[in-house]
Amino acid sequence: MLILIVFIMVSISIISSSVRIGRRSHRVALYFKKYIEQNQLGSVEILDLQQYQFPVFEERLRLQPNPSEKMLSFANKIAASDGVIIVTPEYNGGYPASLKNVVDLLYNEWHRKPVAISTVSDGIYGGTQVITSLQFSLWKIRAWTVPAMFPVPSADKVFDEKGNALNKEKTDKRAALFIKELMWCIKAKSKMTEEQ
Ligand SMILES: Cc1cc2nc3c(=O)[nH]c(=O)nc-3n(C[C@H](O)[C@H](O)[C@H](O)COP(=O)(O)O)c2cc1C
Repeated sequence: MLILIVFIMVSISIISSSVRIGRRSHRVALYFKKYIEQNQLGSVEILDLQQYQFPVFEERLRLQPNPSEKMLSFANKIAASDGVIIVTPEYNGGYPASLKNVVDLLYNEWHRKPVAISTVSDGIYGGTQVITSLQFSLWKIRAWTVPAMFPVPSADKVFDEKGNALNKEKTDKRAALFIKELMWCIKAKSKMTEEQ
C-alpha cells in the first residue's frame, strides 16, 4: 500500500513596519525569520516597508485605476500568507504611519487573516501601548488578531543588527509561546475553510 505523506508548508509573512533611519525594530523581524527557519515552522518572508517605500495613502488598492506592481505584489503576498507577524515600533503611543498606510491599502486580503503583533521600543515597556490602537484597526478591517504578545523593550540592547538575540535561550522560549498561538489560529482557520 502506498502511503502518501503530504507536508503542508505554512506560509508566514513578517511585516517590518519601521521606515525610520537607523531603525531598531527591524532586528526583531530578522529574529523571527531566523527563528521560524531554524525551527522549520514554515516558509517565511519579511515584507519590509522601508524597501517598499509606498506613497502616503491615496486610495484603497481595489479602487486605484493604476496600482503599482509593488502594491499588487504586497497585496498578493498578504493574501497568500497563512499568517502574518507585524513587528511595530511605538511612536508617541501609537504605531507608525507606514503601517497604517498598508492596513488601509488592503481590504479583503486582511479578512480572517491570523495576525500576531510584536511591539518594540527602546524604553522599558516594549511598546505595549501600541497594542490597543493597532488591534482595533485590524479588528475593524476584519483581520483575526492573535491573542499573544511579544513586547521588546530596549530593542537595541537585546538584539544585534542581524537579529540575533543576545539571550537566545530566553528569547526563543518567549518566541515559542508567541508563534504557538499564531500556529494554532492558522490551524484552526484551515479547518474552517469550507465555512463562509
Ligand atoms: C517619533 C518617535 C516617537 C516615539 N515615542 C515613543 C513612545 O511613545 N514610547 C516609547 O516607549 N518609545 C517611543 N519612541 C522610541 C521608539 O520606540 C524607539 O526609538 C524604537 O527603536 C523605535 O523603533 P524603530 O527604531 O524601529 O523605528 C519613539 C521614537 C520616535 C522616533
